[in-house]
Amino acid sequence: MKNFQADFIMIKALEDGVNVIGLTRGSDTRFHHSEKLDNGEVMIAQFTEHTSAIKIRGRAEISTSFGEMQSGD
Ligand code: TRP
Repeated sequence: MKNFQADFIMIKALEDGVNVIGLTRGSDTRFHHSEKLDNGEVMIAQFTEHTSAIKIRGRAEISTSFGEMQSGD
């Protein structure tokens, strides 16, 4: 990883089967990783040289430096 200072986001699943999906950086934007969280599980993920976007599918609490959001409502 080139930039260790990159942003993190924190995701807390509010139901079983929440997906945290990493999308690739660069001209080709595609899924490269999907992580499944069950209710109450927390994932802390960083934007990296491989990951430019993160998609959350399902009900989850999302904390970023921009603020807090709830997905899946
Ligand atoms: N190998 C991936 C990377 O270094 C791991 C990863 C980092 C990831 N952040 C992510 C996977 C966010 C899914 C979502 O980029």
